[in-house]
Parts: sequence; C-alpha cells; structure tokens
Amino acid sequence: MVRSLRSVKNIFGKKVLVRVDTNVPIKDGRILDDTRIRAIIPTLQFLIKKKAKIIIIAHLGRPEGVVVPNLTLDPIAVRLGQLLKRHIEKIPSEDWKKSSGIFKMVQTMIEVMKPGQLVMLDNIRFSPDETNNKGNLAKQLASLADFFVQDGFSVCHRADASVLGIAKLLPSYAGLLLVNELQGLDKIFHASPQRFLVILGGAKMETKLPVLKKFLKISGNIVVGGGIANTILAARGYDVGASLVDKNLFATAKRLARNKKIVMPHDVVVGNKEGTSWRIVTVDSKPHGLCEKDEAILDIGPATITLVRNYIDKAKTLVWNGALGYFEQQPYDEGTFAVARAIAQRQQKGIFSVVGGGETVEVIQELNLSKKFGLVSTGGGAMLEFLAGNKLPGIKVLEHKR
Ligand code: 3PG
Repeated sequence: MVRSLRSVKNIFGKKVLVRVDTNVPIKDGRILDDTRIRAIIPTLQFLIKKKAKIIIIAHLGRPEGVVVPNLTLDPIAVRLGQLLKRHIEKIPSEDWKKSSGIFKMVQTMIEVMKPGQLVMLDNIRFSPDETNNKGNLAKQLASLADFFVQDGFSVCHRADASVLGIAKLLPSYAGLLLVNELQGLDKIFHASPQRFLVILGGAKMETKLPVLKKFLKISGNIVVGGGIANTILAARGYDVGASLVDKNLFATAKRLARNKKIVMPHDVVVGNKEGTSWRIVTVDSKPHGLCEKDEAILDIGPATITLVRNYIDKAKTLVWNGALGYFEQQPYDEGTFAVARAIAQRQQKGIFSVVGGGETVEVIQELNLSKKFGLVSTGGGAMLEFLAGNKLPGIKVLEHKR
C-alpha cells in the first residue's frame, strides 16, 4: 500500500512538489490529446483547496539533458491553466546546466507565492541529471518543498531524480490519480482466471512479451493482434510479406502458438499502407501465403471481429492494451474500433475493464468512449511493467514501511 496524499494533515501554506506526467502528443504547438493533463486535475484541485503552494514538475519527450525549444512545457502550462481556471506561473527554460541559478530564482518565486498558487518548472528532462537520478538535482528540488506528491503513474517505471530521488529525500505521498490507477490495476491481480480476457495488440511484440507471459499465468484467454499475431504467424511459416514482425522472437512465438490460451486471428486484412488496395484473407490452420511481397497485415478481419466480440461478451474482467491494426489509416481502423466499442458496451453490464497504452487511449478519445471503461490507465510502459509484475521504483518508494 502506498502512502496517500489524503493522509497528509496540515497542508495549509506548505510547499509541495508535485510530479506529474504531461508527456502528451503535440503537433505544431497544439496538444492532440490532453487525457494525461485532465487526469492530474483532481490532485491539483485538492492541493489548491487545501491552500498548498504548488510546484509542478513534468517532462515532455526525451530531450536528454539539453534544452530543446519545441519540448518546452509552455503549451502544457497554458492548457493546465485553462482546465484549472487559474494562472500558472511557468519558470522559463533557462539552461538547466546552470541549475543553481534556476533554483535560486525558483526559491525566490516560491517565497512570495500565496497559498493555493501554482508554479511549473520547465521540462525536467532539460536537466542532464534527471534521467537515472544523477548529480544534485534531486537534492536541489527537494530543498524547495516541505513534501512531495507523485501523481505521474506513467513515469513511475523510471528511477529518475524527480521520480525516485526526491521521494527518498522528502516525506512523499501518492496523488489521487496514482492511488486510483493502483487500485484499479490491483483488481486485475485478484480477478479469477475464468472469464478474465486479455486483448493485446500494438506494433512490437518485444514490448508486450513480459506482460503476455505474466497473463498466461493469471488470466483466461489472450486475444493477440498487431505485431504479436504477425510474429506468431511468420514464425509458424505463413508468408506475411511486409508485415511488422519481431524476427528475433520466432522461437518464443512458436512456443506461444502452441498455448491453448492464445487466440489468433481467423482472418486478416492485408493491403498497402495508404489503404487504397486491400483484401480479406482467411488464415487456414496450415501455413500458407497471406500477403504478396509488398503487402502487409494491417487489421483483423470481420470473422475475427465477431470471434473477439464473443469472447468480450463472456468476459467478467478485461484488460486491453494495443491497437489490433493500423488504425490511423482507414479502412484498417475497423478491428480496433469494433473492439473498443464492444468493450465499452460490455462494461455497461457491470464487468471490470482496464484499458491503457498511448495508442489505445488515443482510439478511445477518438471514439469519445473514455468514460465507458472501469479504468483508462495513463500508463504506457509503466502499465505494462506493472502488469508484468515488476516493482516500479517510483511506487516502491511510496510504500508504507512494514
Ligand atoms: C510515457 O509516455 O510513457 C511516459 O511519459 C514515460 O516516457 P519515457 O518512456 O520517455 O520515459
């Protein structure tokens, strides 16, 4: 169990460092999906109401210790301000290498802050000391505040200065989003394997393999699509043309193909990336050619959609991570969209569903279904690591001492 922010007494006037994850897709300065920003509002509102002095720390992209102008948090601070209906003072992105200067400046700002006000540091990954908690950064950050709140579940798998480092130095607590995510994901580990369905897609099999192995132990059926299904088909000898496959995982894929829990596509949509030429191909039980050389598997076919719907209709607990096709291009969005809608419908019957992963959340947003699931996790890599059974450094450090 983690220590929750709700357990903190006497917050009035206290200086609080809040680590959030605002790593959202941005194009030409425009935020394409603000799910992660919306998700941190309850914690910030809680602290505003309690009249804390709030110092927000976040990152965007992977600037690797240098100031990258288009990775500044300016658009994030603006969006956050709109959602909170408050002004957020943003500390400019000076050269983080001269961080002592920055910290003096921040300190001065905090001293004059009124209870309930917020400031936001610029992209913490502009500092060369953030990744893997190097140098003095954690110490400098910790010196700014009375306590620390972690509300960025999706960054908790990183042992960084603003994730692990500060939490070791200050009294530290889990924010409301983090507590909610942990409670939701924990239900998965306590679900009975009967009628526990997992749907795993996405481009790369490698990133999903640890979680797939874990689910083979704790869940019922596992429907696979995307790169996982392609790799299994290719490893078994089907000709998959230019489809995305992880060639170095063929031996594992062959073993997985023999596992009765794994549900493979019965048919696939193959075609060109532009979506101008495509066809449906049935996957026979014996390996055969599915694609021409220049074609790729880009979606599950209609028979597979029906099959997956039947599994969804019987599930009581459900986890979905990863698109089942190249949903960014019509007509290859059909399989992924149909699965999203079917889970949302099933959720109305009182099952518990968890969905997560960057592209999965993007799909849900596009279909306006974000309120229709038990938990929409903000975690990409963090969710996969957590579900694979790994202890995440940013969470472990918040646990009660036994
Ligand atoms: C994410 O987008 O999953 C988190 O922000 C972590 O980002 P990272 O993989 O760059 O550490």
